[in-house]
Amino acid sequence: MTRAHAPGKAILFGEHAVVYGRPAIAVPVHQIRATADVSDLPEAPAGAVFLESEATGTRAWLNDLPEDDPLRRITQSTLDRLPAASRHTLSIHITSTIPIASGLGSGAAVSVAIARAVSQHLGQPLTIEAVSALAFDVERLHHGTPSGIDNTVISYETPVYFVRGQPIERIKVGAIFDLLIGDTGVPAPTVEAVASVRRRWEAERETMETLFDSVGDIVRRARTAIESGHVAALGPLMNENQSLLAEMGVSSPELDRLIDAALGAGAFGAKLSGGGMGGNMIAVVTPDRNRAITAALLQAGATRAFATQVGT
Ligand code: MEV
Repeated sequence: MTRAHAPGKAILFGEHAVVYGRPAIAVPVHQIRATADVSDLPEAPAGAVFLESEATGTRAWLNDLPEDDPLRRITQSTLDRLPAASRHTLSIHITSTIPIASGLGSGAAVSVAIARAVSQHLGQPLTIEAVSALAFDVERLHHGTPSGIDNTVISYETPVYFVRGQPIERIKVGAIFDLLIGDTGVPAPTVEAVASVRRRWEAERETMETLFDSVGDIVRRARTAIESGHVAALGPLMNENQSLLAEMGVSSPELDRLIDAALGAGAFGAKLSGGGMGGNMIAVVTPDRNRAITAALLQAGATRAFATQVGT
């Protein structure tokens, strides 16, 4: 049996504007992850692949799944990259602790875990770049116009400064800092949030482009703050980014409630993370406020709150 993992992710700055060519910053979140277990299926005919995923309730032969099923797509495109893959039989079992449709990269992480596990199991491990490209194709199938930030940060497992279509830039974290992640418990598929921003952009192009420009400025300042270890500066930048996201129409009452609770309990700054309209928020905190802010998030309705560190 071969097992491979892929972490979740959080976007620190720049979601949505990144779809329109502005930069964004994202980090891997190792406390949550997708896992793919691949083994042989000795009694099956050559080429047979069986897929199982608890999260999506999938239990099927690969060829019986719809052609646009993301699990089928990533498995098939991975096998297509591997010479002689059709001589093998495979059983693929997927589990994930990353909540679905919550802004934490569950779809991309499942794709990356499968591409890694299948290629390793067949003795032909793919490069990080190849895995990321395969996961991007699946994102494109389901998100319409993904920027590519999710598959990139999850495949490379490093903080990234990302600009659509450009080579990955790794960020050096000047001083480790603490993040809290709070889940509204409201599922919000990224595709819908991206489509809603697109509709606004089509209706009010100039206003939206100005918002995206302001986000781009924040992201560049945040990169400097992260690299120079100026953690306290990240708070106001997060708050500014959140205001712009609210203007784009992707915040929600539940997100606002958690963000207010985190700020009220002493976070440096807080914002939604990912597509928004539900899903998760993040807050930059000092370790001594960690417990109080976690309690405030749960009190304000978070279905889960957990801490992660950036730069470890
Ligand atoms: C999703 O994690 C981030 C968005 O900016 C979409 C994308 O970049 O593809 C909302």
